[in-house]
Amino acid sequence: MLILKLGGSVVTHKDKPFTPHIDNITRLAAEIAEADAQPLILVHGGGSYGHPVATEYGIAEGYREPRQITGVSKTHQAMMELNGIIVRELLDAGVPAFAVSPSSFIVTEGRRIIDIDLHVVERLIESGLVPVLYGDAVLDTMQRFAILSGDQLVVKLATGLEVERVVLGSDVDGVFTADPKLVEDARLIEEFSLSNHGDEAKIGDALDTDVTGGMLGKVLEAAEAVEAGIEVVMVNATVDGRVRAALRGENVIGTRLKR
Ligand code: IPE
Repeated sequence: MLILKLGGSVVTHKDKPFTPHIDNITRLAAEIAEADAQPLILVHGGGSYGHPVATEYGIAEGYREPRQITGVSKTHQAMMELNGIIVRELLDAGVPAFAVSPSSFIVTEGRRIIDIDLHVVERLIESGLVPVLYGDAVLDTMQRFAILSGDQLVVKLATGLEVERVVLGSDVDGVFTADPKLVEDARLIEEFSLSNHGDEAKIGDALDTDVTGGMLGKVLEAAEAVEAGIEVVMVNATVDGRVRAALRGENVIGTRLKR
């Protein structure tokens, strides 16, 4: 079983509110269809759909004032709209995509997943469907609500189901020795060892509005899956063919995470 996460910077234009990146979505839907790697679970990020709304209402920080309640709903709604666009493109490409709302079967405690019921996702997969989940506004036992990142979700799915490989698709090639958006001679690290990441590399934090953390957060989040023996590879999903190759298990430009 495989999990593919497509970051918000891949499926949306991150600096234009509520703008899907249709070219990327259509191309990736075709790559996913061509890779023919089943069973497969897809997870996508919020980009310019979820993040601006979540930020406007301070959803990640939890309950402070009544107006946030509407914000929880609006954040979830924004994500469902983006999800709808992605699922439609996948269906057009021939992928039996099936939308699943994380907030309907996951509860967090202090922003970390404490309650998750995987039965329905398992059954969807057994039925030959491709569940398509996303970072979502979820209910939280301590702060009433929170933002669940796609990255945290991916790791929980990977460790809770029998997943072999996780492909994390973003708009950079992988983990660099410095932030490639800022430093010209930043070098791609092809094998990133979690045990000594502190000395090996400085990881640039994402530059855009992002309520759930940048590259460092992604690597630290994925560490749990790597520890569990799951293969985790980070690729640039904005470059033609990389996601297809990664799904097929081929050698691809990117960063493989190691213990
Ligand atoms: C966040 O998901 C979803 C919301 C803001 C509701 P992610 O944190 O996985 O999204 P990206 O990939 O960073 O955009």
